[in-house]
Amino acid sequence: MPTDRTGAGSSDKVTLRVAILDIDSERRSAAAAVLSQIGHVGVTEISTFPQKVDDLTEILKDPYDVVLFNADCDQDLAFDLTARLCGDARINVMAYSSRADMKLAVHLMRAGAREFFTAPFDTNEIVAAMERAASRCAVTSQESRAASRLFVFLGAKGGCGVTTLAANFALALAQESTGKTLLIDLGLPLGDAAINLGIKTEYSVSNALQQSDRLDARLLSTLVVKHNTGLSVLASPSEFSDKKLSPDSLDRLVSVAREAYDFVVADVGSRIDLLGTSLFDRSAIVYLIAQVGITELLNANRMITQFFFTRPDTLQIVLNRFKPSDLLFDEKKITEALTRPAQWRIPDDYAAARRTRETASPMVLIDSPIARAIREMAMTAAGLTEKAEKHGLFRFLR
Ligand SMILES: Nc1ncnc2c1ncn2[C@@H]1O[C@H](COP(=O)(O)OP(=O)(O)OP(=O)(O)O)[C@@H](O)[C@H]1O
Ligand SMILES: [Mg+2]
Repeated sequence: MPTDRTGAGSSDKVTLRVAILDIDSERRSAAAAVLSQIGHVGVTEISTFPQKVDDLTEILKDPYDVVLFNADCDQDLAFDLTARLCGDARINVMAYSSRADMKLAVHLMRAGAREFFTAPFDTNEIVAAMERAASRCAVTSQESRAASRLFVFLGAKGGCGVTTLAANFALALAQESTGKTLLIDLGLPLGDAAINLGIKTEYSVSNALQQSDRLDARLLSTLVVKHNTGLSVLASPSEFSDKKLSPDSLDRLVSVAREAYDFVVADVGSRIDLLGTSLFDRSAIVYLIAQVGITELLNANRMITQFFFTRPDTLQIVLNRFKPSDLLFDEKKITEALTRPAQWRIPDDYAAARRTRETASPMVLIDSPIARAIREMAMTAAGLTEKAEKHGLFRFLR
């Protein structure tokens, strides 16, 4: 059972949320006592210790800036826990041991741990470490405040409807909000977002990535094509390339795009290899697209528990092609598989999908159940829920 305390003089505002994972109550309390002397630190003591990395999902349900754990467990487990926690760039992972074990410290640092302490604790050492963590968090949140909003569409499996939803969501966002909106098609090597929108493109993501060292807002603006709703699209290349995508070039593209646009929407297909890039930075909203099928739900479960368990607030689950009358599983089973209820259900709308294929006209521009559902997602993302209510969108969906 987690117990919370807040640091000295910080009842007004917690800026650093720290979880201590340790079954040794004496050691845990000693660490908590030191931390609670520091202003603006919120401490949660967790007396359950994971026996395997997957247990972290259950144990760390709330978001934390720092996870501090007792590394006097099995060394492989300590290493795996560190590596898994570090998969979430928002978390500063720290460990402690009752032994001044340099080998263990180096081992954990290699896995990504930021700090290693030896008990009994040196208060100054812990205060300095928390200051470093707080400044890292402040930099990240300032960066994300200055930048635009990023929405990433990821499929639990190929063919789940990522491109359909990302392209139409971006279009609705561009129409409904006053913000400049860019859709980036990273469904490489051959994405089809432009086709879904009925537009022809000359340049693509490849041109932006190849020139990443000189990429700026001006160059980017020459590579995008504008849909007549105002949406800008950076399309996927139309030819196969055997070149591996460079994460640094992609980070540069995302950063330039976020400076130049108010809303950036990325179609990443099912590319979980992009997880370490800034597309999945702490401020991005990730829409995980699944369908009610055995493989889709199984994959979604793996992705949520392995990669997204630390982002309960910024992961939104979307069940596409949803047919309440024709479900393989009941709602309870679906929620169990997804570990939480899905936020969005997009109806199976064969007629609208067929119309798009035949007329190359985007789904969201013609009134239909799927158009209304996608428009509601976009309006909520842009903070326009009142407008959505006025349009009667919510009445239709609930
Ligand atoms: N809600 C829906 N109702 C009916 N048809 C849909 C729906 N969503 C998507 N489709 C159809 O399913 C097919 C696959 O969709 P889409 O190309 O968007 O999937 P994807 O996840 O991007 O696939 P890929 O993995 O190939 O990139 C398309 O023919 C599309 O028109
Ligand atoms: Mg696609």
